[in-house]
Amino acid sequence: MKKQNSDSPVFELEKVSYYYRNQQALEDISLKISKGERLIILGANGSGKSTLLKMLDGLYFPSKGSIKAFGVKIDADFFQNEENFYDFRKKVGFVFQDPDVQLFSPTVWDEVIFAPLHLGFSNSEVLRRAKTALKLLDIEHLKNRPPYLLSGGEKKRVALATVLAFNPEVWLFDEPTASLDPRSQSRFLDFLDTLSDRGNTVVIATHDLSIVEDMADRVLVLSEEHKMVRLGKPMNILEDIPFLSKHNLVHDHRHKHKKETHKHLHIHVTDHEHKD
Ligand SMILES: Nc1ncnc2c1ncn2[C@@H]1O[C@H](COP(=O)(O)OP(=O)(O)OP(=O)(O)O)[C@@H](O)[C@H]1O
Ligand SMILES: [Mg+2]
Repeated sequence: MKKQNSDSPVFELEKVSYYYRNQQALEDISLKISKGERLIILGANGSGKSTLLKMLDGLYFPSKGSIKAFGVKIDADFFQNEENFYDFRKKVGFVFQDPDVQLFSPTVWDEVIFAPLHLGFSNSEVLRRAKTALKLLDIEHLKNRPPYLLSGGEKKRVALATVLAFNPEVWLFDEPTASLDPRSQSRFLDFLDTLSDRGNTVVIATHDLSIVEDMADRVLVLSEEHKMVRLGKPMNILEDIPFLSKHNLVHDHRHKHKKETHKHLHIHVTDHEHKD
């Protein structure tokens, strides 16, 4: 990649807006993400989280404003250059919200070797990486199965393995904990810790508040009007219940006690615990 500067932020967004034809998805986002940072993007359905991740992955380009990755502007011209394209794809991995859009090979094994093979690793390295990825995600037993016949959570783990197999320095996760059972969730959180210990940059879009405190250095909150309404420390945001409620990140929870219905705000801290 040309003019790359190791001191540059991993991503630098300047006044970025995005529209799908006339449908607004992001409005005026300015943000820097540093190397090794763990950033969580919070926002209600439709606020623009997935769109923002896709822009960081160079799948969409800003309708207004600009994005730099590793100090270089990423736009259509940038990706026209083959060297830039492969260099960027090796460095940045994306685990999609919906694994069905990510998985297309006849077997899980084919799926996991696909990226390292196409990114130019040697055959022995491809084998080593694919085996390690299957082992780490505990899906060796699914190796010969067609991905489209797996359960939602199994597909999610295969999708993670496909990225792990090329081991990028930047990881973009869209709703990673959705559809994972408690053991897989816990393993996934351990996996995030490992990435973080290794100095990887991690950006996660979610509305799962239970992962925010442990997994984020900073939190960005998008409003339902697609604007950045907060960028700050996890605890300052988690403790601001009126703010979370306003942006549809906590809900009014109804309980029935005998014949009475109680209604009060809830923040989900873990799967089993509620903090009022
Ligand atoms: N392909 C598309 N064409 C038109 N509009 C789209 C498209 N994809 C998303 N949108 C719209 O853009 C806005 C942002 O969508 P996005 O998928 O980024 O939200 P999100 O925060 O990821 O939501 P969710 O929590 O449901 O995953 C929404 O209003 C959505 O309807
Ligand atoms: Mg989304």
